[in-house]
Amino acid sequence: MDRICINGGQRLNGTIPISGAKNATLPLMIASLLTDQTLILDNVPRLADVALLQRILGNHGVDIMVGGKRPGETQYDGQTLHISAANIIDTTAPYELVSRMRASFWVIAPLLARMGEAKVSMPGGCAIGTRPVDLLIMALDCLGAEIEIDRGYVIARARNGLKGGRISFPKVTVGGTHTALMAAALARGSTVIENAAREPEVTDVADCLNKMGARISGAGTSRILVEGVARLNGARHRVLPDRIETGTYAMAVAMTGGDVLLENARPELLQSVFDLLARAGVEVTSTNAGVRVARNGAGIAPVEVTTSPFPGFPTDLQAQLMALMTRAMGTSRITETIFENRFMHVQELVRLGAHIQLDGECATIEGVERLKGAPVMATDLRASVSLVIAALAAEGETVVNRVYHLDRGFERLEDKLAACGAAIERVSG
Ligand code: UD1
Repeated sequence: MDRICINGGQRLNGTIPISGAKNATLPLMIASLLTDQTLILDNVPRLADVALLQRILGNHGVDIMVGGKRPGETQYDGQTLHISAANIIDTTAPYELVSRMRASFWVIAPLLARMGEAKVSMPGGCAIGTRPVDLLIMALDCLGAEIEIDRGYVIARARNGLKGGRISFPKVTVGGTHTALMAAALARGSTVIENAAREPEVTDVADCLNKMGARISGAGTSRILVEGVARLNGARHRVLPDRIETGTYAMAVAMTGGDVLLENARPELLQSVFDLLARAGVEVTSTNAGVRVARNGAGIAPVEVTTSPFPGFPTDLQAQLMALMTRAMGTSRITETIFENRFMHVQELVRLGAHIQLDGECATIEGVERLKGAPVMATDLRASVSLVIAALAAEGETVVNRVYHLDRGFERLEDKLAACGAAIERVSG
């Protein structure tokens, strides 16, 4: 199993190219199931989760061709996927595959909408909380699906197709909103989605569906209207830049000090994060090429923040912010409201010398003068990368084990950081 070794203490200077967003790519790939024509996606990141979803879609009969690099492109330019679900050969998504990636449960919506039936394994346990699918099932039920739960599988049927309806989410859910959008796109009549997730990835998926011939308005607000259509077509769509990757590297620079251009980053996708970093004493400037993040001289000021759905501070950057605040000049407080148990990184940060106390959903972080390198490991993607951020500022060597978590969501992380001066390398085996 690969490990990442980091010798802390180097400032970061240079340019980090931001890849396409994982959390948009996954639902966009799944949306290909809605049409028998080819969907072309550009700027797709090279990630383990993308490769796994390729396999999962392949199981349904989806054919995916990966486009080659074009002249002038760098190693960081995303892949182009040509995805064709001309023939769906299987409407069952088995446990062995769905249990490995929660988002693959979302195939239930396009399979049901297009084929009139789907049998998808419940995702099962997860390291960051119970993460149920009740609201996704509720959305399908509102559109007239018959739902049965049998031996760990959700079986959804709509023999005569789905019917438009009103879906009012009691809680903001990104996956629920993706599911509702995909199902409603091919339903008869109109659908209203209330308390919809406003995440930029939802808007990106809605934009792509509209290019495919869907009639969706209001994406990006909490009330989305969908006029169902009889069929969808192929289209070409470029995945938006990854705001979580952007925020992660912004925090890495804030941690080490230095000056880095986050190329292709779009500041409006993470205003809450940049506002917070500015309060912490980090310089953030928008440029034509992306976003410049710098910290020179000044220390890190402590902050108080509560995670919330977009446009609030994202739960997916909570661990990274906590790593940064371990070195702040005072006491910070971070409250996690989206996922219970999303504090798996705390014990590992403490091993590096951080002072953190947990009280339910609230973490109190007392900034320390120095962190010291140690062997650490993490149990999920965001927790792993928070350890990398801490290690970049820790004295001596930190070895981050279980790197496969990082590979699920960060493209060439060690190359991107090394190019800016970090002493970081991957050790195989
Ligand atoms: C997506 C993101 C994930 C991010 C999360 C919140 C992808 C691939 N993943 O996950 O990175 O951390 O949004 O921004 O885009 N809930 C229910 N019942 C349900 C569904 C969700 O109670 O049926 C709860 C969850 O337990 C959680 C909250 O709703 O407390 C939000 O979850 P949700 O937005 O659905 O997260 P995901 O779509 O799984």
